[in-house]
Amino acid sequence: MPQKQRVLITDKLSKAGLKVLEASPELEIVNLSGAEPKLTPEQVRQELFNADAIIIRSETKLTAAILDGQTRVKVIARAGVGVDNVDLEAATRQGIIVMNTPAGNTTSTAELAFAMMIALARNIPQASAVMKAGGWDRSKFTGTQLAGKTLAVIGLGRIGLTLAKRALAFEMQVVGYDPLLSEDRAREFGITLYRDVDQIVDKCDFLSVHTPLTPETTGLINAERLARMKKGARLINCARGGIIDEDALADAIESGHIGGAALDVFVEEPPAKDHRLRKLDKVITTPHLGASTAEAQEAVAVEAAEIITAFLVNNEVRHAINMVPISGAEMKDVKSFLDLGYRLGLLQKQMLAQRFKCAGIKEARITYRGEVAKRKTKLITSAFVAGLISAGVEEPANIINADVVARERGIQITESTSDQAGDFASLMSTTLVTDNGQFDVSGTIFGNEFLRLVRLDGFQLEAYLDSHLLIYRHQDKPGLIGFIGSVLGKHGVNISNMALGRSQVGGDAVAVLNLDSSPSDAARAEIQGHPNVTGVDIVRLPVAGEALPWLDSRG
Ligand code: NAD
Ligand code: MLT
Repeated sequence: MPQKQRVLITDKLSKAGLKVLEASPELEIVNLSGAEPKLTPEQVRQELFNADAIIIRSETKLTAAILDGQTRVKVIARAGVGVDNVDLEAATRQGIIVMNTPAGNTTSTAELAFAMMIALARNIPQASAVMKAGGWDRSKFTGTQLAGKTLAVIGLGRIGLTLAKRALAFEMQVVGYDPLLSEDRAREFGITLYRDVDQIVDKCDFLSVHTPLTPETTGLINAERLARMKKGARLINCARGGIIDEDALADAIESGHIGGAALDVFVEEPPAKDHRLRKLDKVITTPHLGASTAEAQEAVAVEAAEIITAFLVNNEVRHAINMVPISGAEMKDVKSFLDLGYRLGLLQKQMLAQRFKCAGIKEARITYRGEVAKRKTKLITSAFVAGLISAGVEEPANIINADVVARERGIQITESTSDQAGDFASLMSTTLVTDNGQFDVSGTIFGNEFLRLVRLDGFQLEAYLDSHLLIYRHQDKPGLIGFIGSVLGKHGVNISNMALGRSQVGGDAVAVLNLDSSPSDAARAEIQGHPNVTGVDIVRLPVAGEALPWLDSRG
């Protein structure tokens, strides 16, 4: 029975999510979310060494220090939207897929933002606190009506649009800014779209932010923009602490320019007990409760469990932040081509090392023709690059980090496709441009799974792409095949297949022998010494059908 895939859980996950995981016999669940005291970062790092996947919410921080050197874990699932608690660059560099559950808490978070707006408009928490303390003060808490007022929504994604719909139902005007939303779509919703935050800030009575926290959105609402808002305007942040500059907001409220703010999120969570914003009467605060409803928690937990199971059991990639999404059926369809690309990359790199010794790779050009051009070729290219980079290095690359690693090494990757079939139903051609010249290899798949090398050194041939390959360039003269057969026989190496490519009788030619074991240096030297042999390469590829290292097992 194959080894179970270990799924580590370090933040609290609803029972419904655990149930989904438990229903998969392929998975072993290591639930440390209830650990007392909570796991330290070092303990998370150690646990991760023995896990294939991890499910987190917002409490566990997966930093570069935790992720570096992790060779087993393949996937991180964030039960929630924001992945700012995962070092994405480090995860990608390490070849780990990061996925989230984008839709499960949309409605709950939009409802909280809406509740915050009403509470701000009518001073509900402040009035309630006075009542609880035995008071009764009606004049102090005169509020403002929402109908007829203008709400500005910055970030019109799932939550921003859901909030906008609710505000429109309350007879508010909604203006907004989002670089990705089209004017047509905004119009459909009844939102007036602006192309700049600066055009909006002076037009609204309420402003709610719903962007992710990125370098671009950090401090998006700063002192200057707060100063340009209408006197008495109110702000809401149920997205991430820091999108509204905390100090600038406190200053603007203290000065009386801003009428109040409702904050669910903070730069530091929890914020310090004496944080300025905690103390201001006009500020309403909640402890990051956007997604804290039974419904949202169940939805994100179930979805996180489902995407992890789909990936570990069917290689299906859903909601990935650092990889193109791919369904189980598409993965099945493309897997043989990933294998082909990976093997062509391994072959190119090993031949390059033997022929050109220290030639730097400047560019890899990959062309897809025929059927394969209709598939997710970006992934196949990544598999080729992974092979190219992995051969002979200690930390193999995979389809997640191939692009990053190639870029770090200054290798330009160029991909082109043509659905014009040539001699083959599908053909993948790869050219390496190096400091010392360029060389090409092409491969195809016969049936659904028989990988073949069909072009090498400008010659057509048909060789297997597995195990041990002896490639020799030569003059096409009688007797050479017999000579090579006897050298290999003498050294105890069995030939399983032979493919020949030549331009004309007696001219330049190349042969690829598939061998059952690798020839020794002595055998290679003997072959190399034959006067009609002009070059020898020995290449080691995975055996036929061996699992792809980044999908079915790690290294
Ligand atoms: P989403 O991806 O659907 O929407 C985000 C939108 O922000 C996108 O449309 C994007 O184009 C836009 N955007 C990005 N940069 C921008 C910029 N500089 N200016 C204007 N718009 C910009 O995400 P979502 O599901 O709507 O969630 C939004 C954020 O809310 C998440 O990133 C998360 O951090 C936060 N969130 C908080 C809670 C909570 O508990 N308080 C719960 C869920 C989500
Ligand atoms: C999110 O990004 O989904 C929210 O911050 C909710 C959470 O997981 O706490």
